[in-house]
Amino acid sequence: MTATPDPREDEPTAGLVEKLTSLAKRRGFIFQSSEIYGGINAIYDFGPLGVALRRNIRSLWWRHMVELRHDVVGLESGIIMHPRVWEASGHVQTFHDPLVECRNCHGRFRADHLKPVAEVELEDAQLGPEARKALKSGKLDATRPMCPNCGAQDFSEERQFNLMFKTYLGPVQDSAAQVYLRPETAQGMFVQFQNVLNSTRKKIPFGIGQVGKSFRNEISPGNYIFRLREFEQMEMEFFVKPGTDEQWFSYWLDERFRWWRDVLGVKAENLRLRPHAEDELSHYAKAAQDVEYLYPFGWQELEGIANRTNFDLSRHSEFSGRDLSYFDEETKERYIPYVIEPAMGIDRCMFTLMLDAYDEEDVRGEKRVVLRFHPDVAPIQVAVLPLSKNEQLLPTSREVEEALRPYFRIEYDETQSIGRRYRRHDEIGTPYAVTIDFDTLNDHAVTIRERDSMEQVRVPIEALVSELQGRFKH
Ligand code: GAP
Repeated sequence: MTATPDPREDEPTAGLVEKLTSLAKRRGFIFQSSEIYGGINAIYDFGPLGVALRRNIRSLWWRHMVELRHDVVGLESGIIMHPRVWEASGHVQTFHDPLVECRNCHGRFRADHLKPVAEVELEDAQLGPEARKALKSGKLDATRPMCPNCGAQDFSEERQFNLMFKTYLGPVQDSAAQVYLRPETAQGMFVQFQNVLNSTRKKIPFGIGQVGKSFRNEISPGNYIFRLREFEQMEMEFFVKPGTDEQWFSYWLDERFRWWRDVLGVKAENLRLRPHAEDELSHYAKAAQDVEYLYPFGWQELEGIANRTNFDLSRHSEFSGRDLSYFDEETKERYIPYVIEPAMGIDRCMFTLMLDAYDEEDVRGEKRVVLRFHPDVAPIQVAVLPLSKNEQLLPTSREVEEALRPYFRIEYDETQSIGRRYRRHDEIGTPYAVTIDFDTLNDHAVTIRERDSMEQVRVPIEALVSELQGRFKH
């Protein structure tokens, strides 16, 4: 892999995740799960604005991956599946991460996430105070890894740790009743391949998409909501004729990259495609590339696009005894389709959109924080703000609210000063605010304020819906 220059190298990025974490809690995007009990590691809850943002992400994915295409259909499969599914898929055998334990503090870590001391930076947010002290002392062996908790360099032997959560189906907790929470949604599409094919009469090439929760007992979750133990995936399995798989792989790389850049509006300079090296490939993949994002902690995977070959359908045929091959009516050939899979996570997407949109600027000596969300993903599209709580403004303000609500995601807000309300809506990324003032009572016009430029224009109430609709068209 060649190193891509980091365009943020000269910028102070330290603290961006912390600022966002605080904003996300204060404004109601993301809360720690079970916070009143001290929280639970790597699981988060989503507040009202977080829910709205996630719904927008889901619907933009569904729109572009399913509804706007003639060749993709949807599926919702159970989180718990027959345990044989995970034997056939290879997850029982190979879905492991290497685990090591620090012999000093007994912290447990993914061996492949530990870097030699020479590569560890003092500002690394994962370092505990003791580890930082040990690093500063200069006494560590630069070629060996250190414990990010305590700085010790003494680890146990590596052992393989399976990432699937286990539970029991029914009242008897024995091995016959043991099942798993799915670590990916993909297997639902493979085991229902024949049912979908028979019920829709789709012809290859075609895809099956699914949105739903997945679970992985990650050894070292972290970086806020980047790596979680409960998360949500959006995956699509695209079934193709063997031999056409490489073309379709390259087609989906382009499509997915475009979706991130053009539909979600992620800055192109923060996105790249990175092919997997041979030794990085999952057990089922012939080729894979990640759409990566430049996080404050470096380039990391946002979405994985894999050529899964006919691995899954072949294995399910073998394990279930059901023939999952496809008969091509035109060429009279029978084959097990190959699969190209674009797979992404909603949580990571949400985090990325918030990081990418975050901006601070100086406005007349005051700091203005703005989330410059693309209008389609913004949790609220239009804020309806009476200038004050004065009763005279109320009927017209409500009238404006009712006029806009059927067309946009809106919020009506009459608390606090107008300046503070503008600031709040900048911080949650609302592209437009509509203000009703005392002149409105005479001229039946309102002011539209644009988030990014802060420009204000006066518009008659009758023209408001069409004026805003025009602005949302892009
Ligand atoms: N079916 C293929 C598959 O699951 P993956 O690369 O392991 O591939 C796909 O996961 C996407 O799911 C990732 O790109 C990421 O966005 C998301 N994802 C995976 N593990 C995650 C975790 N522990 N926390 C949050 N998101 C995760």
